[in-house]
Amino acid sequence: MPADSRTKTTIIKLRKHKRTKETTCLVTAYDYPQALIADKAGVDAILVGDSCGMTTHGYKTTLPVTMDEMINHCEAVSRGAKDAFLIGDMPYMSYHVSKEDTIKNAGRFIQEGKADAVKIEGGKKREETIQALLEAEIPVMGHLGLTPQSKNLMGGYKVQGKTLDLARQLFEDALLLQELGCFSMVLEGVPTVVAQSISENINIPTIGIGAGNLTDGQVLVLHDLLGMKSKEYIDAKFVKRYDQQYEATLKALKTYKDEIEKRDFPTDDYSYDMGNDINDSLKEWKKEIKKILS
Ligand code: KIV
Repeated sequence: MPADSRTKTTIIKLRKHKRTKETTCLVTAYDYPQALIADKAGVDAILVGDSCGMTTHGYKTTLPVTMDEMINHCEAVSRGAKDAFLIGDMPYMSYHVSKEDTIKNAGRFIQEGKADAVKIEGGKKREETIQALLEAEIPVMGHLGLTPQSKNLMGGYKVQGKTLDLARQLFEDALLLQELGCFSMVLEGVPTVVAQSISENINIPTIGIGAGNLTDGQVLVLHDLLGMKSKEYIDAKFVKRYDQQYEATLKALKTYKDEIEKRDFPTDDYSYDMGNDINDSLKEWKKEIKKILS
């Protein structure tokens, strides 16, 4: 749908997408201009992902990301996300300690970050957490498969559900998230056939990332799809670079530096005059300086 004729995306609209087999498009964003552009492009939902730890803060994993950092990003994104549904990603340790902590932290996403919903990672072990959030009227998106906050437990970022036993466990977790009342779930780093069977057998939208083309929707990290890392950086197999913004930005900055050094910038076009003929202004101003200095 053209971005300009849209209305605000809601959970009802996302569910309708599933029924009518309309593919749902999500992207991550971490600041106001990114949100403005994503919204203008007409994405259905924006995820303020804890991937900001890596894309924006330079951490090696998502594990050091704090609630305060997430709220800061979410608030900025909310100012630019007019029609897109806004999902705040609960960072590591924000929903692992106690029910009270979890509700308070998720509540901050809604009240301060102006998010419409939160996302948490994990299946069966998050059962009580999800129930508590829903009891507090907070919509929850699940996240199964390769859950980056479990990196240390998984022994690295590995595709999940590759054996029959692990695929069954994933499938059961997906059924549970649906039963608990999650409005949607991310399936990350999962074989296509497993993601397909989950998507076909549950009635809430599945959003894939590295899960093939048969989920109900897709999400990618903004910096990955824009190609904001140098070409030497090896992306995950599922990342498609739609642009080469690292190279474009580097070229622009090198040109800028070069022009500064050569005094080619700023030219008169980028400078202010005193409103008169430049020579008259200069004569008058020189006289004025003499007066000041005498
Ligand atoms: O943090 C994030 O960006 C995510 C997506 C990759 C799903 O969780």
